[in-house]
Amino acid sequence: MSAATLSDMAVAVLTTADGREKAALSRDCAARWFAARDAGTPLEIGRAAPPDTPARPEKPELLHPRDVPRRRPGTPQGRIALLHAVAHIELNAVDLHWDIIARFSDVKMPLGFHDDWVKAADEESKHFNLVSDCLEAEGSHYGALPAHAGMWRAAEDTAQDFMGRLAVVPMVLEARGLDVTPGMIDIFRKAGIGHAVDALEVIYAEEVGHVAYGSKWFHFLCGRFDLDPKETFHTLVRRYFHGPLKPPFNEEKRAEAGLPPDFYWPLADRPAER
Ligand SMILES: [Fe+2]
Ligand SMILES: [Fe+2]
Repeated sequence: MSAATLSDMAVAVLTTADGREKAALSRDCAARWFAARDAGTPLEIGRAAPPDTPARPEKPELLHPRDVPRRRPGTPQGRIALLHAVAHIELNAVDLHWDIIARFSDVKMPLGFHDDWVKAADEESKHFNLVSDCLEAEGSHYGALPAHAGMWRAAEDTAQDFMGRLAVVPMVLEARGLDVTPGMIDIFRKAGIGHAVDALEVIYAEEVGHVAYGSKWFHFLCGRFDLDPKETFHTLVRRYFHGPLKPPFNEEKRAEAGLPPDFYWPLADRPAER
């Protein structure tokens, strides 16, 4: 790829099917973006049409969530299934972050917005590689098991709504990751699988940043349009996210990421336990 704009690079990642290749290209594009930023000659944002759905490998087979076999984390097979599900989430996240860059490139944003999502995409690519390494160390690989078909739904539902995308993807879905990751780390720690614990610890630490980027730029846009952030968040999540949010919430990490309790508790399926 020569003299690409940031949007061209985003589309190149989105149209790369193989997981390892997508992750490698994503990391390469991020390195180019930050090298140009450091040199004081930022790449142009440009305009490029992202695909409706990103290219994905032939395997894993994508199934309706109700048809994905239930996993029992107390067994080696269950732990592999859990890692496989995480790898699938990470690959989807690579695409989600490049997609927000390309899809909403017509909205003028500060360069810091692009810095944040390029960094997030780079980290998701690292996460996909780390979890794929874990799967391979356990004698499996990404693609060996079926995976959720519904992962791109949030992107489709918010394809026309920039603030809706920020509300649902980083501030709901990635925040959910903060709630459930400590439990996953526990499972692998109890099973004595150190490399998976290490990978999940990296993911857990870096995901706080992604939620924080979501909150930062959501609040920025609320300020630009003189909207009340909490009310707007509730309206958009109810419009685009299907079903209530599920407690328990990781209030400490959510706070660290700039998500106050009055943003998520009113959307939960039971009242706050105080
Ligand atoms: Fe991640
Ligand atoms: Fe993330």
